Amino acid sequence: MENIIEVRDLCKTYITNKRQNNVLRNVSFEIGEGEMVAVMGPSGSGKSTLLYTVSGMDSITAGSVKFGGRDITGLGSGELSDIRLNEMGFIFQQMYMLKNLTVLDNIILPAVQSKASTLSRKEKLEAGRDLMRRLGMIETADNGINEVSGGQLQRACICRSMINSPRMIFAD
Ligand SMILES: Nc1ncnc2c1ncn2[C@@H]1O[C@H](COP(=O)(O)OP(=O)(O)O)[C@@H](O)[C@H]1O
Ligand SMILES: [Mg+2]
Repeated sequence: MENIIEVRDLCKTYITNKRQNNVLRNVSFEIGEGEMVAVMGPSGSGKSTLLYTVSGMDSITAGSVKFGGRDITGLGSGELSDIRLNEMGFIFQQMYMLKNLTVLDNIILPAVQSKASTLSRKEKLEAGRDLMRRLGMIETADNGINEVSGGQLQRACICRSMINSPRMIFAD
């Protein structure tokens, strides 16, 4: 099994009001292809911080993160955002859906944004509809995001996280 993620001695320290908060201290682990990993711990223990640092959304204090065999620790924000867009999927606690787009248009937005995608707009829409079918919500494709239930919106977020066929999905 190939490792998708390799984290070594990851440290993350926040400094607030001149006080140091060592949230992550020498965290090391790897996640293999196809593996499903749940990180559990009390509120405030650093689960979201781990997700944000490993995915390159937030800086790290020390250590290294490899994604797909590539050290992403020293990459610039442009390269990191390309990797996040094309190779990672995200499901956040807050849904971050755009209010002026339909559910389907929200779902395909990462594909529309991706320069790496070779699909036409029509194919992107069809890929979005396929995901909506798989998650049992195709009937809401053309609804506004205020015209679906909370659970349906959460599933739309899952569809959106998968639209660019990521190697890894991060779910907070
Ligand atoms: N941006 C930030 N700046 C300063 N401290 C933060 C920030 N984000 C989180 N923290 C602190 O880091 C700790 C871990 O937070 P977090 O990773 O959100 O926990 P969890 O997701 O496990 O509930 C908490 O003590 C929190 O107050
Ligand atoms: Mg959290």
